[in-house]
Amino acid sequence: MSTSDTARADGVVRIALIGCGTVGSQVVRLLTEHGEDWAARSGAQLELVGIAVRDAAAERDPWVPRELLTEDVSGLIERTDVVVELIGGIEPARTLVLEALRGGRTVVTGNKALLAAHGPEVHAAVESGDADLYYEAAVAGAIPVVYGLRESLAGDNVVTVAGIVNGTTNYILDEMTMRGLSFDDALAQAQQLGYAEADPSSDIDGHDAAAKAAILASLAFHTRVGIDDVPVTGIRDVTVEDVTQARENGYVMKLLAVARRTPRRGRPAGIAVRVHPALVPETHPLAAVHGPFNAVVVEAESAGRLMFYGQGAGGVPTASAVLSDIVAAAGHAIRGGHAPRESTYAQLPLLGPEATPARTRVQISLADQPGTLAAVAGIYGEENVSIESVHQQRSDEGVARITITSHVATEAALERTVARLVAERSVEDVVSVSRVEGE
Ligand code: NDP
Ligand code: HSE
Repeated sequence: MSTSDTARADGVVRIALIGCGTVGSQVVRLLTEHGEDWAARSGAQLELVGIAVRDAAAERDPWVPRELLTEDVSGLIERTDVVVELIGGIEPARTLVLEALRGGRTVVTGNKALLAAHGPEVHAAVESGDADLYYEAAVAGAIPVVYGLRESLAGDNVVTVAGIVNGTTNYILDEMTMRGLSFDDALAQAQQLGYAEADPSSDIDGHDAAAKAAILASLAFHTRVGIDDVPVTGIRDVTVEDVTQARENGYVMKLLAVARRTPRRGRPAGIAVRVHPALVPETHPLAAVHGPFNAVVVEAESAGRLMFYGQGAGGVPTASAVLSDIVAAAGHAIRGGHAPRESTYAQLPLLGPEATPARTRVQISLADQPGTLAAVAGIYGEENVSIESVHQQRSDEGVARITITSHVATEAALERTVARLVAERSVEDVVSVSRVEGE
C-alpha cells in the first residue's frame, strides 16, 4: 500500500516536520491554530505525527508539543505521508529528502541550497518514487513566485525574470541609500534585526540569491540550471559613495538575480543567469522595494510584465508558503493528482560572457587634456560598445571625473573595455563599474 493509498483509506494525511527553527516552529503554530481550516481546504485530516530536531531536550516555543519531538529522523519519516524538510543546508537534508522521495512520500521543502546544488538528483528521486515535491518557500519566502512560474505561467513563454530575492542585502543597500549608513553598520543592524545569518557571507556574497536565481531560471525556461551555472558578484565592495552617486543620478543600487532568454533570428539562442549589484532607474518598480522585502518582475510574451512583491524571509511569512504546499500536498494525497514534475524539455544553452547582453556605467578620473576623452571613446568604439551618455564633472587640479553609460553590449566586450581603460595612460583611475538593469 503506497502512502497516498493509506491516506485515502482513512482520510488522514500524516505529516513529519524535520526542523523546528525559525520557520519550522511557525509551521507548528499555524498547523495547531488553523488546522481545521487547512483540513477543510485540503479535504484531509492533517496529523502532525512528529517533529525531528537535532536536540529534542532544547527549549522550544510554548506551542511546540514536547511529546512530538524526536531525534530519530528516519524512524519518523517511515510513519508519514508528507515530509516537511526545514533543516536547511545540504547534509543531512539531501539524504533525508532522497530517502523520503524514493519511498514515495511527498516532500515539502524550503531548501534552496539543496535544490540548486542537487536538483537533478532530487528530481530523479521524485520520478523513481512516483512522489511529489513542493518548494514554494525556497524562493522569496511568502511570495508565490514558484507557483507563478511553475503553474500560472505554464501557458506562456517567459522572457526575463529579474528580482530582489535576498532580504538581507536589500536591507543593507537600502540603509546605505536612504540613511547613508556604511556597509558594516548596515550589516550589523541586519544581524541585530535577525535578517542576516550569523555567518552572513551566503547573503552578502550573493550565494543565497544565486541558488534562488537557479531555481527561478529552471522554472522560467524549462531548462536545468544549477548554482554553478550562475556567475555571482555580491555586495561586499559596494560603498556609500557608490549608492549616493547612483541616487544623485537617478538610480538605485540593488542586488539583482537576473535570468534572461536571448533571442537570435526569432528563436531563443540561450539563457543567461546572473547575480550582481546593479543600478536600476528610480522609476523602475524594483527601485521601490525597501528594507528586507523581496520582489520579482517577470516578463512573459503574452502576459507582459508581472510583479511579485512581499516578505522574502522570516519565520511567519515563510511558514505561509510551507503551509500552502502542505494543503496542496494533502489535497492530492486524498483526492488524487500530483504536483507538476520538473520540466526541462527546452534545455536551452547557458550563454557565456560573449553572448550575454549587459550595460554598464563606468566612472573614471581622466587627465583633463586635449584628446584624452577621444582616446577613451576610441576604446569603446574599438570594442564595439556603443556609448549612450557621457557626463563630465568640473575638473579638479587637472583631473576630470567622467561617467560613461553604455548601450547594451556583451558582457565580454564591456569587460575588455574596462581592462583597456585601466591600462590607458590618460586614465588616472577607474573609480567604479556598475551594471545597469531595468531600462
Ligand atoms: P533554523 O536554523 O532556524 O532551524 C533549523 C532546524 O533544523 C532546527 O530546529 C534544528 O534543530 C533542525 N536540524 C538541524 N540539523 C538537524 C538534523 N541533523 N536533524 C534534525 N533536525 C536538524 O532554520 P530556518 O528555519 O531559518 O530555515 C529552514 C529552511 O527554510 C532552510 O532551508 C532555509 O533556507 C529556508 N528558509 C528560511 C527562511 C528564513 O527566513 N529563516 C526564509 C526562506 C527559506 P535544533 O532546533 O535542535 O537545533
Ligand atoms: N537569508 C535570506 C534573506 C532568507 O536574507 O533573504 C532566506 O532565504
